[in-house]
Amino acid sequence: MFLSKYNGQSQIDSKGQLKHLLSIDGLNAKLIHEIFSQADALINPQEQSITKVPLLKNKTVANLFFEPSTRTKTTFELAAKRLSADVLTLSIQQSSTVKGETLIDTVNNLIAMQVDILVVRHPDAGTAHLIAKAIDNKSVSVVNAGDGCHAHPSQALLDMYTIKQHKKDFSSLTVAIVGDILHSRVARSNICALHLLGAHEIRVVGPKTLIPADIEQLGVRVYHQLQPGIQDADVIIMLRLQRERMQSPFLPSPHEFSQQYELTRAQLKSAKPDVLVMHPGPINRGIEIESAVADGAHSVILQQVHLGIAVRMSILATLAKSQNST
Ligand code: CP
Repeated sequence: MFLSKYNGQSQIDSKGQLKHLLSIDGLNAKLIHEIFSQADALINPQEQSITKVPLLKNKTVANLFFEPSTRTKTTFELAAKRLSADVLTLSIQQSSTVKGETLIDTVNNLIAMQVDILVVRHPDAGTAHLIAKAIDNKSVSVVNAGDGCHAHPSQALLDMYTIKQHKKDFSSLTVAIVGDILHSRVARSNICALHLLGAHEIRVVGPKTLIPADIEQLGVRVYHQLQPGIQDADVIIMLRLQRERMQSPFLPSPHEFSQQYELTRAQLKSAKPDVLVMHPGPINRGIEIESAVADGAHSVILQQVHLGIAVRMSILATLAKSQNST
């Protein structure tokens, strides 16, 4: 199931514009570079600050998070506010979902309130695609903010944008993605984005039980040991154990995992001297990453969060622009 079955749905309209952001599969490098260019324009280069602009004035953005989130929820909310949109953040536990209302009925009620963009996180793979299909004839856009083990496209875009700030040229890069690949929507979206941007080599590193059997079909090299997996890497993307998605024990214990896969200062010496250490968060210190590495000179983990605001602003502005031109 690691190979996506939700790729067919069109997220690009007949004019080549982004209608929804559902997955990285189905995007193209030109669109990604346009999103990056717009993010560049939103950041003040002197202070690295992001100022408020009226690009989404008179638009309404609704955040629907059926799963916990710190970074994605708040940065989408901040992004929409910095674009001057009206923002609704639905508290799912206090919504009529708990009284049995279906997801599509909730969505249709929000559309009746003239919401323009729905940002959706859900534990089930394919939820954002399902909503996009159900509202296909309406001028409303859906952003997938993470659906089960499937996709997290805005995270992949902000990860690629962060790499671009430091490395400029993807074609020379060796990128190692380390940890629980099997349950990771971030791994799948990042592999796809790295291919679209022409990365030289993509590696996945982890125990056999946490690497999908069919993953080589995605054009990656598989390693089961950390040291060879990160040897001469330009970028290391660490992933946490996603225990909330594990239905059976995939590992003897987190301690066992950390013994073999924790990125420590000693292990980091195998990578290139200017390696970037990334993590989508939340980080589990002392399990997949040593504190000294997470907080160290190679880490861009908090920069990913900061740049995520500009990238998410750019995604929302791109969707609003395509709505305005239809
Ligand atoms: N990276 C990420 O999706 O973090 P949150 O779960 O906090 O949104």
